[in-house]
Amino acid sequence: MTQKIVLMGAGLIGREHAILLRANHRVELVGIADISEAGKALSEEFGAHYFTDMREMLDTMKPDGAIIALPNALHVEAALACIERGVPSLVEKPIADSLDAAKLLVEAVELTGVPVLVGHQRRHSPDIAKARQLVSEAALGRLVAVNAMWMTDKPEPYFDAAWRRQPGGGPLLINLIHDIDCMRFICGDIERVMAFTSNAVRSFEVEDTASVSVSFANGALGTFIMSDTAVSPYNWDTAAGQALYFPHQPENTYFLAGTKAALSIPSMDIWRHETEAHHWQHPLLRQHVTLDGSRAYENQLNHFADIIAGKAEPLVSARDGMMTLATVLAIAKAGRENGVVNVADMLG
Ligand SMILES: NC(=O)c1ccc[n+]([C@@H]2O[C@H](COP(=O)([O-])OP(=O)(O)OC[C@H]3O[C@@H](n4cnc5c(N)ncnc54)[C@H](O)[C@@H]3O)[C@@H](O)[C@H]2O)c1
Repeated sequence: MTQKIVLMGAGLIGREHAILLRANHRVELVGIADISEAGKALSEEFGAHYFTDMREMLDTMKPDGAIIALPNALHVEAALACIERGVPSLVEKPIADSLDAAKLLVEAVELTGVPVLVGHQRRHSPDIAKARQLVSEAALGRLVAVNAMWMTDKPEPYFDAAWRRQPGGGPLLINLIHDIDCMRFICGDIERVMAFTSNAVRSFEVEDTASVSVSFANGALGTFIMSDTAVSPYNWDTAAGQALYFPHQPENTYFLAGTKAALSIPSMDIWRHETEAHHWQHPLLRQHVTLDGSRAYENQLNHFADIIAGKAEPLVSARDGMMTLATVLAIAKAGRENGVVNVADMLG
């Protein structure tokens, strides 16, 4: 039977969720809640009932699931409203705008058992899933070092929305959070972080560029470099061809190296010596890993439908989403204070 889905928030990503819902025969978009005129127009375009109040929508439509694409500060309030009514939700990232709010949601999920899937869609991409499998099977040997990049040039009008220039709306929490989540998913938890942040180009209150150094719980070390004001193909969204509204520009953005082999993502090339006795004076062989060609956002929606049907547990749980948020907030703190921050200390 088709699942009835409601959408909260009809902005930039809300519209994309509506398009994805329309294309998926397992689900039907029955209601949209948004306080803006644009929300009304979107609900007319998609033949969904329009509401200005998300609770009224939940009570009227009695949906099987809800997608929450509201500004960060409303994620927890909306997800709690779903939990109170026993409605599974897909909450856009970050799970919350603060760790206190995230903890409230994690407690409610774990107390009630009503599922919440956090929208870190990259985990549903075949390259990220395969990379996790390769690392967990020790195909690279013992993981030693990781390098991740996210650099692109956002246009000026993007910053017309005031929240994108203010604390909480910068590229650490909007963009780097995806790369941090991917590396946590592939390599395991990050324990300690150091960072430099800069607003030298855009001069907003929030950072435009950051360099980050991390240590993973398994002993591997990693670096991240991020900027939303640099022209580059080195960001996973365009490099992997998984973005919804950007061109596909094949490149590599993540580099993993272990004691036996190295892996580049998203090209998915494994580099290793012909024999284990070989070393840096011997050539490396390149093996390409073929993927299934499936797409992150479609896979995420199908996974959400499986959760609603009781066939799957969230791949990104509320607790997992909170840990990714804690890691990014630790990076922001390290950048402000020029010191080392333990991620566990962020959670008190
Ligand atoms: N996973 C991804 O790829 C991805 C991409 C973009 C954005 N996001 C996330 O999605 C969320 C939304 O981002 P966006 O760029 O679409 O923002 P946006 O500002 O374009 O859209 C937010 C919408 O929420 C509506 N809204 C605000 N308050 C409301 C309320 N009280 N009730 C109902 N509607 C209300 C606004 O009118 C607006 O239409 C953010 O959390 C962001 O981090 C995720």
